[in-house]
Amino acid sequence: MSAPDKTKLLARLRPFGQEHLLRFWDELTDAQRAALAGQIDGIDFTQIATLCRQATSDAPQDAQAVAERASEAEPPPAIRLADQRAGASAADARRRGEEALRAGKLGVVLVAGGQGTRLGFDHPKGLYEIGPVSGASLFQILFEKLLARGRRYGVRIPLYLMTSPATHDETLAALDEPKRYGLPAKDVLVFCQGTMPAVDAASGRLLLEDKGKLFASPDGHGGMLAALDRSGGLADIRRRGLEQLFYMQVDNPLVEVCDPAFIGYHLAAGSEASTQVVQKLDPLDRVGNVVSIDGRVQIIEYSDLPENVARLPAPDGSLKLWAGNIAVHVFDVAFLARMSEHGGRLPFHIARKIVPYIDDAGHAVEPEKPNAIKFERFIFDLLPAARTALVVEVDEAAAFAPLKNGPGAKRDTPEWVRGQMVALHRGWLEKVGATVANGVQVEISPLFALDAAEVATKIPRGLRVTADRYFR
Ligand code: UTP
Repeated sequence: MSAPDKTKLLARLRPFGQEHLLRFWDELTDAQRAALAGQIDGIDFTQIATLCRQATSDAPQDAQAVAERASEAEPPPAIRLADQRAGASAADARRRGEEALRAGKLGVVLVAGGQGTRLGFDHPKGLYEIGPVSGASLFQILFEKLLARGRRYGVRIPLYLMTSPATHDETLAALDEPKRYGLPAKDVLVFCQGTMPAVDAASGRLLLEDKGKLFASPDGHGGMLAALDRSGGLADIRRRGLEQLFYMQVDNPLVEVCDPAFIGYHLAAGSEASTQVVQKLDPLDRVGNVVSIDGRVQIIEYSDLPENVARLPAPDGSLKLWAGNIAVHVFDVAFLARMSEHGGRLPFHIARKIVPYIDDAGHAVEPEKPNAIKFERFIFDLLPAARTALVVEVDEAAAFAPLKNGPGAKRDTPEWVRGQMVALHRGWLEKVGATVANGVQVEISPLFALDAAEVATKIPRGLRVTADRYFR
């Protein structure tokens, strides 16, 4: 391979005012030069320039447009918990979902490429040991849920696991031993998402992480579609004849993996993209708001929903915009294939973040307030593109406890997530007649039981639990 040509690189950078990226060229080794040239080659500078223009000059109009759009939001067409409890629809949906599972029509995509900055854990979040009694990692819990679901229906459910350059190597190494927690190698496909550079918010210039390296971060969970296609994952999904893909994120150990009722509702509605939601307790809850605008299901981020709109009441006095996104979806594979024909090009969202960088004098700068703009795609932007999209409400206590924050925050901390897990599993045991002494921690492995009904088949009558216990 010939050495990269500085003059050619400069000619490519100059029209975009990005020549500073080569400022330290003469200090770099050949290997560093080759790596930097490779990074520069992979960047679409026209796209970055357009995104920067949108981020800076259009910002006030954008904010106004978002607020106006929010004021047109209606609650989404949804299957509410009350409907599910009242009618036979839940049993029908469950049956239908179970049929699809038994027929081997489901695959699972798990996105685990995030950097987990809020948690402050220096490894892939999937390796965080969250099990309250077992110390099992998030990966172990989710993999075992998948394994157990497959066993229940006599099928192997393939897993498409998305990493990012930030998490890839460590995730692969961790999955090697203990052997993907029991999932066969040919059913676990690991694929790596793309990255996006960050720019200085004031000048639009790309930031250097090192003298020979651009700062780049994962391109958001919405990068999943393009990465799945690029890696051959989508082709594999079609080759296996999978028709629906269950989507989940690595930080929620309560997710009901391949929830049959959810899949059944999705199929019965002929939905292309379905999403689970929870009832918001507070109008200002920090979750995405699932709404309908002009007949299209979409999500308005909490930061974009004006407070007066968030507080609007429904006719019965409850919250009008009640549905909070928990990032559990089912996607129709034909829909994903159609969307990826358009390059998997979901729009980029803009986030102002703190990004340490190397300045023009070669000094490392650690800013104290947001100095940079990052660009990310969000998976939920698939929802408005679907011909039919469905919203299904679930009970938060049974389905959603995301690990987001380090200790000290109000919720979504390790302690909080563990507490939610113990409460749910205690509830399962008590529901089927066991007693659990006060203050005792219980945890149920997915390989022991996936729900209360299964617990009933595994424990002796009148079981009393008086010390911390991991059911496995
Ligand atoms: P979050 O948006 O909560 O980000 O990701 P995070 O990385 O976990 O945490 P912070 O914001 O840095 O504190 C939700 C889910 O999407 C995945 C994460 O791994 C998590 O499962 N994700 C996020 C990706 O796979 N790639 C990304 O680029 C971003």
